Amino acid sequence: MKNVSVVVLAAGIGTRMISSISKVMHNLSGKPIIRWVIDSVLSINPNIVVVVVNRANSNIIKKLLSDTNVKFVYQKEQLGSADAAMKAEKILKNKSDYILIVNGDTPLIDKIILNSLINKTIKTNSSLTLLSSILRNPYGYGRIIKKNGILKNIVEEVNATEKEKEINEINSGIYCFDKNVWNYLKNVKQNNIKKEYYLTDVIPILKKKKKKISLFVYNKYETIGINTRIDLLNAERELKIKKIYNLINSGVNIIDINNVYISNDAKIGKDTIIYPGVFIDIGVSIGEKCVIKGYSYLINSKIGYNNTIIYSYIEGSIIKNKVTVGPFAHIRHGTVLSENVKIGNFSEIKNSKVKEKSKINHLSYIGDSKIGKNVNIGAGTITCNYDGKKKNKTIIGQKSFIGSNVNLVAPIKIGENVFIAAGSTVTKNVPSNKFTISRPKQKIKQKK
Ligand code: UD1
Ligand code: CA
Repeated sequence: MKNVSVVVLAAGIGTRMISSISKVMHNLSGKPIIRWVIDSVLSINPNIVVVVVNRANSNIIKKLLSDTNVKFVYQKEQLGSADAAMKAEKILKNKSDYILIVNGDTPLIDKIILNSLINKTIKTNSSLTLLSSILRNPYGYGRIIKKNGILKNIVEEVNATEKEKEINEINSGIYCFDKNVWNYLKNVKQNNIKKEYYLTDVIPILKKKKKKISLFVYNKYETIGINTRIDLLNAERELKIKKIYNLINSGVNIIDINNVYISNDAKIGKDTIIYPGVFIDIGVSIGEKCVIKGYSYLINSKIGYNNTIIYSYIEGSIIKNKVTVGPFAHIRHGTVLSENVKIGNFSEIKNSKVKEKSKINHLSYIGDSKIGKNVNIGAGTITCNYDGKKKNKTIIGQKSFIGSNVNLVAPIKIGENVFIAAGSTVTKNVPSNKFTISRPKQKIKQKK
């Protein structure tokens, strides 16, 4: 394989998005558009990657890509895609045999497409291979104009005649050039309608120089370019359908595919059932044979096998196996629920470890706690973990029974096999095997 460098164009303003956020920073299935592009580009192991950014989006894009070693150049004035690409010349000139130029708003291009484009350029000895696609609705894209089956030109939507607008083959905005790309781009003239330097105007220049141009036609949704929120919606839909079919084909039972959201990075084991209304956000893995009922929301969590989750909100947590959560439970960051734990309705668990077979079944708040095995937390029990300044810990030993409506004022340590009477407010540590009660004695008096 010859050595290839890449230019990613991300300095456009993205006016059609109607947004104060840079277009390429919009989220697509858990990742900003530009991150999708960069991840794909890096997957082919290029020599150097240069991202062309603008003044408004440079900081945020640099931060997003700080874990990569891509380079950045500025395009201060938005003078078009050819002008943007030229900004990379100072870094890339004489550095690589081939230069891929990739629109930063085409998030779903993958390794296969990029490698095919490079291979075709090498095999056919072309100076340019461009990716094209035949679309049912080509609106907005540059049209591929051919004469006798040979590429003649690319005409942008705004420049196209009515007849040209009927052409369904479009330019996908992914190009593989030979190393002389800078000489070709330098000759692009300002286009007279939008006053921009169109990268696509390089075609007649190459033709004049008698250079060979090839087309690589790829008719799948992966070539979709995001200009508007509708484009983003379409990309999201395509990704989602692909993801859901992959999951179904790997043994997951999704009852209503039109009524779930499953992030592209989700991992779900076979024989797990996903009910309608479930929202699986980024960073979630779910093991085999789980039942996830609507309307649960899961994010950044690891769920083992044989769990049942009903109408609950789970974030940043680990749920081991054979656990029941919900309905209406809130499992918050830092929580680990061990095997056979039961968390019932209207219970909130935050940053707590709950060991095997313990139960928190009704209306509880458990925060910053360690709860041993086989503990029963009665209805309405809360840990008073916050003293107005800091969060304090509650520790409860195994086999303890905490009656209903108990206040555990942290920091506090409850030993093993302790019994706390219902309604108690507990402020002192309780040693193992003790009974404690702390509530006003009930009086019965004659009615006045
Ligand atoms: C472009 C192509 C069009 C193709 C389509 C595919 C041109 C002239 N047209 O149109 O043929 O069908 O992509 O999706 O290239 N950019 C800059 N600086 C600029 C202008 C643009 O960096 O001054 C970047 C944008 O951030 C974007 C890319 O270049 O990533 C393409 O620009 P955009 O305005 O989206 O072009 P399209 O109209 O989509
Ligand atoms: Ca575009």
